Amino acid sequence: MKRLLLIMLASMSIMATSCSKDDSEPSTNEETPTEMPTEEPKTPEDSKTATSYNEQYRPQIHFTPSRNWMNDPNGMVYDNGVYHLYYQYNPRGNDWGNMSWGHTESKDLIHWEEKPVALTRDALGDVFSGSAVIDKNNTAGFGAGALIALYTSADGIQQQSLAYSLDGGETFERFSANPVIKNNDDNLRDPKVFWHETSQKWIMALAKGWARGVEFYSSKDLKTWSHLSTFVTDLSGRPSLQWECPDLVEFDYNGGKKWVLIVSVNPGGPVLGSGTMYFVGNFDGTNFTADDLDYPLWLDYGMDNYAGVTYSNTDDRKILIGWMNNWQYAGAVPCNPWRSAMTLPRELSLSEHDGKPLLKNSVVGEIENIAGEWTNVDDKFDAGSAYQLRLTIDLDQNSTVMLSNQKGEKYVVDINSNTRTLTARRTSATGKSDFNGMFSVPSMSAPLNVEGAKVTIDFYVDQSSVELFSNDGSMSMTNLVFPETIYNSLSVSGANYDAKVRKLERIW
Ligand code: FRU
Repeated sequence: MKRLLLIMLASMSIMATSCSKDDSEPSTNEETPTEMPTEEPKTPEDSKTATSYNEQYRPQIHFTPSRNWMNDPNGMVYDNGVYHLYYQYNPRGNDWGNMSWGHTESKDLIHWEEKPVALTRDALGDVFSGSAVIDKNNTAGFGAGALIALYTSADGIQQQSLAYSLDGGETFERFSANPVIKNNDDNLRDPKVFWHETSQKWIMALAKGWARGVEFYSSKDLKTWSHLSTFVTDLSGRPSLQWECPDLVEFDYNGGKKWVLIVSVNPGGPVLGSGTMYFVGNFDGTNFTADDLDYPLWLDYGMDNYAGVTYSNTDDRKILIGWMNNWQYAGAVPCNPWRSAMTLPRELSLSEHDGKPLLKNSVVGEIENIAGEWTNVDDKFDAGSAYQLRLTIDLDQNSTVMLSNQKGEKYVVDINSNTRTLTARRTSATGKSDFNGMFSVPSMSAPLNVEGAKVTIDFYVDQSSVELFSNDGSMSMTNLVFPETIYNSLSVSGANYDAKVRKLERIW
């Protein structure tokens, strides 16, 4: 009971934190690891020399800032051959606070180069989550091709602000007439903007936080916004308490088109705490209407994929990156001098399963850039610093898949052939878990979402995460794990199977 109250209070403090920069951080951090010095690195080079990217638990194929706290991905936009990834960042420490936009760039979505911090607090408040677009037709008047960021200015109240970059996303100027959407409460944030071809307007989705819903706005010039509509829905009593980080994306579906509204909820996710749900329906330029489906539908069935939205300016590709953490324990994960990683970038598509739309997400094809040769495996294998394991398992009987290391730490996945579900077990046997009481979850279940006699499961395993996908992203499950050393042994009992593994080269 006490713990439940703590979770509630901690989650509520996410909102409270916007009230003042001196408020405490939004997590259930009961046992914070020792802090590193909190001075701000002056240049990206300074921060790079602060680490070899070789510390215990340091992800080797996922983006992490060299040091300090990170949460949501922000301002994801592709421009001139460069994928920009900004992110919620504390330039001064390894806990949530001083919210700014950190910045990293990639040419292939896999190798990242950290850049100087792009946006820090101004008179309107901290810089909360938001998005970025390329203004090809100079609708805003800052210049054709300007990179324009819309973000939430948070200082007790949450208002929307604009900043623009004329040097390809390296540095930003604030718009002189901010905020572009005024507001006087603390439940309107995380603007996601896209160009809507049919109505020839920019559309913005904004999350209503504790008020649960999404507001839509439109604009001709990114500076003057008019309210269009509100999307609210009853999730049959499911406690998806806070709505954050919305994204509205159009997909090809069965020879036609469908719109998908992605919303992160915290708490109330598929397991516990944070999670990302989606609605499928139509958008007519004013209203989003959800089809009658069995909501909530989940983008990912694990504990650690939150606040994910898609890249802007990638034509037909819909590429999502999520924050690989969960507000239940984010402040306590044992990583130092950085805290939090992003998920591997995922390509989204909408396909049909059981006569209904299913949002698939699979790792982007660019992963090939770091992939070695496949080798068959039936027990111990050379794991390198990260790897992909591909299992194809018959579904004529139940199976248990166990990844383990020489210390006996293990990540166990049970496959139920009757219910066609998978259950992952993250316990104290998985690795370090005592940093927070909510981290051990002995049973996380998910539908395999496959037809046919076999399922193929891809495991992307890094130093402190396991991302699992059934049949090319029909279901994904993303979980942090903290084994002393990477799992390098496989055992499968039950049904017949094939297994192969390939190393994924470190990106640093
Ligand atoms: C989601 C979130 C956003 C907010 C940001 C603050 O994780 O709470 O709603 O903009 O984090 O860091």
